[in-house]
Amino acid sequence: MNTYPISATQMGELAKIRPGSCDHVDVQVADFGQFFEDLAGTTIWPLAANPRHIVTTLEEQRRRATTIVRTYVRMPRIRGKRVLDFGCGTGLVASTMAAFGAAAVVGYDIKTYDEWAIDSVAQLTANWEQVVAQGPYDVVLLYDVLDHVQPVDGQLVDLEQHIQATGGESAINGIMQVLNLLRTVAPTAEYLVRCHPWLAKHGTHLYTTLNRAYAHLFLTPERIAALGGVATETLPLRFPLASYRQAFGRAGFRLENTEVTRNRPDVFFLHEHFTEKLLAAFYANTPMTAVNVPELLSFEFVDFVASPAHNG
Ligand SMILES: C[S@@+](CC[C@H](N)C(=O)[O-])C[C@H]1O[C@@H](n2cnc3c(N)ncnc32)[C@H](O)[C@@H]1O
Repeated sequence: MNTYPISATQMGELAKIRPGSCDHVDVQVADFGQFFEDLAGTTIWPLAANPRHIVTTLEEQRRRATTIVRTYVRMPRIRGKRVLDFGCGTGLVASTMAAFGAAAVVGYDIKTYDEWAIDSVAQLTANWEQVVAQGPYDVVLLYDVLDHVQPVDGQLVDLEQHIQATGGESAINGIMQVLNLLRTVAPTAEYLVRCHPWLAKHGTHLYTTLNRAYAHLFLTPERIAALGGVATETLPLRFPLASYRQAFGRAGFRLENTEVTRNRPDVFFLHEHFTEKLLAAFYANTPMTAVNVPELLSFEFVDFVASPAHNG
């Protein structure tokens, strides 16, 4: 029997939603949704993100942008360079890079953001022609973009169904499409790529509306919506590291550096075998025969430095 350490208060909460349970929870795979929906109203289900670290106000977004530029991009790398921030979102990171000494920064996104109205330092655009006109670029930033890539032709699909239907193979097509497109405007650039996979505990960015670790693994989109959660569409890659590497390789990129950041998953998920059952179901039609729960759930980020490989 599995046990996990919970407080007396949590024990009381658990007894309310599962009369008769003590320190042990046994949930059938089919019950996950209801059980976790019930848990969402308790303090038993660990948080996805520390509320103090959740960025909402403009001031917090600016601080986040400065931290990304100082500690991730690093100023010497972009000083005097032409930079493209692909999938720039609000544009605050692009703007900070321009303010910190890049020669020119273009921020491109498939959609426009209200925050663009307040920016004046970087050029922010949803028009690819403008990106082409300002090229070529020395540095390309892809920060938390590849896992959320929408097909460049604008055809939105139900990604999960699509990927399942095609056995995972098409998961990397969107990523390759973006990398191939970027080569045309930045054929010799240094690419800084942060990926934040679906398997991470806040992989779908639900935490601002439903702050529960791995909520997207345990709840269907309908249940998430019923609890007020708003998820960012994310490629549900079963083998994220292998998929990214494959996409880079097939798009003709060389990986100069790979750095994986892992976190220790909450004991709640490690002590309870429902996590193992869930993940086993997720990997059912793959070559993986035994799931390693701590390893799968510990994946937070991977940072790549890449460059287009040259022929000859
Ligand atoms: C999670 S957000 C990250 C935004 C920004 N890089 C940041 O860290 O603040 C992912 C962004 O990628 C953009 N995106 C998705 N597919 C794209 C595509 N095909 N072309 C350009 N941007 C895309 C989304 O619109 C979204 O703004």
